[in-house]
Amino acid sequence: MNTIVNPAGDVVLTRDRSRAFGSILVEQGRLTPADAEEIQRYAGAHGMRFGEAALKLKLLTLQDIDFAVAHQFNYPILQRGGQGGVADDVVAAYNPQSESIEPLRALRSQLTLRWFNDATHKVVAITSPGRREGRSWLAANLAAVFAQIGERTLLIDADMRHPRQHELFNLPNSVGLSALLTGRAGKETACRVHPHLRLFVLPAGAIPPNPQELLGRPVFDLVLERFIDQFDVILIDTPAATETADAQIVAERAGAALMLARLNVTRHSQLTAAMESLTQTGVNVIGGVFNEY
Ligand SMILES: Nc1ncnc2c1ncn2[C@@H]1O[C@H](COP(=O)(O)OP(=O)(O)OP(=O)(O)O)[C@@H](O)[C@H]1O
Ligand SMILES: [Mg+2]
Repeated sequence: MNTIVNPAGDVVLTRDRSRAFGSILVEQGRLTPADAEEIQRYAGAHGMRFGEAALKLKLLTLQDIDFAVAHQFNYPILQRGGQGGVADDVVAAYNPQSESIEPLRALRSQLTLRWFNDATHKVVAITSPGRREGRSWLAANLAAVFAQIGERTLLIDADMRHPRQHELFNLPNSVGLSALLTGRAGKETACRVHPHLRLFVLPAGAIPPNPQELLGRPVFDLVLERFIDQFDVILIDTPAATETADAQIVAERAGAALMLARLNVTRHSQLTAAMESLTQTGVNVIGGVFNEY
């Protein structure tokens, strides 16, 4: 692991360049040296990254790439529970090798290839039609896996009906997004979860009597713009899409949404209605996820 200390005294986790992507896979027997060379040549000739070229040539799978990425980064494992620890639900942070997290790494790869690859695409709202479908779980764990590969990641809790991220990351919820939107706090309100992980969480903050009016304020765009300058990946947790218009308002601000449905629970009609309401207002629904738990 390489850690560099910047002038501000911040410890920044960097990718260990000496552990080249291809050689990790060759060492692990997932790639022959000849194939690695072919990928390298193809990547060079087409201005692609190694992983992208390997997928194109069908010499590696997304799983192989996730495997190599995990080996390239040496990220901290967070404590579970107790003082300063994360809640049991944030499995990716304290047990990243858990089987339940494997699909999230595949999702991370898909989102990187399809969305975050473009420097103007940084924000995604995590949406689903109904209550208790796992939006907060997905947002928290997905944020953790993005931070683990060194992406500067911000998780915003925009669920002012049933805020949850402060509990998941064991943070105070007195000041958060609501204070930012009313001009009572600045962007430093986002809390860094661990000094060696570039994962920041902005809790929802004190619940206002009028969440919809607050989320609809133009200042939300300005708040996001300031964060966009500082982060690579911004995930926004939202309330149930069919209960209020909040999720739609937030997704419009984000410009993109990931739609979650709970397997055997979310009704097809609800899912279609939620999808339609987002797409009608110009939100790019970049993918769908079935949550089976
Ligand atoms: N993939 C999963 N694996 C394990 N547990 C999960 C998973 N998804 C959700 N859960 C559990 O389901 C419960 C509800 O999840 P979560 O709070 O993320 O839902 P939500 O859609 O954000 O709900 P709300 O409507 O309250 O905002 C949580 O207690 C969480 O532990
Ligand atoms: Mg939630």
